[in-house]
Amino acid sequence: MQDYREFLAETLIDEATLKARVVELGAEISRDYAGQDLVLICILRGGITFMVDLMRHISLPHGMDCMAISSYGVGARASSGNVRVTYDLQTNIADRNVLLVEDIVDSGHTISHVLEMLQTRSPRSLKVCALLDKAERREVEVPIHYRGFVIPNAYVFGYGLDIDEYYRNLPFIGVVNLEKYKPEG
Ligand code: IMP
Ligand code: MG
Repeated sequence: MQDYREFLAETLIDEATLKARVVELGAEISRDYAGQDLVLICILRGGITFMVDLMRHISLPHGMDCMAISSYGVGARASSGNVRVTYDLQTNIADRNVLLVEDIVDSGHTISHVLEMLQTRSPRSLKVCALLDKAERREVEVPIHYRGFVIPNAYVFGYGLDIDEYYRNLPFIGVVNLEKYKPEG
């Protein structure tokens, strides 16, 4: 695999800025759900880094669970309306306050589908916390109750977000220079 420095166009959000925003979001969520039950739901795999950091800044007792979905139909880097659950929650969310934690909302199809599906399970409330919002790319309107950053229309990686399943470990959000990135094989 390439060293990310070979294709890093720019660091969009550095580690300190990410940390500071996660602390703010955690404080906001802690205030809003004070005295209430809360369960965080991570959408694997991109949301995991963010959720693990975020939960340590939520000062309330809360549960957490994960689910995985796959979207297919429009190429590897775009998501479509076809979204399928590949790993379901192990938690019954009926009558619970659910906060979905996502890495990025792009077209909006993923979140829109997940919200629709989870709504059928009768949560008490259902909200969305997304670290990144690529607002210009939205194809379906979705509510984002907690938003880390609005970002421009560029392919980004790091802090949970991958390029072909690698580079999720990087502690910052970078923009890929697609001319310099060489996929394996
Ligand atoms: P949506 O359904 O188009 O909103 O797509 C959301 C999903 O696409 C996210 O959960 C990510 O997994 C993936 N995605 C969208 N944009 C990026 C990006 O710039 N880098 C990495 N993954 C992305
Ligand atoms: Mg994702």
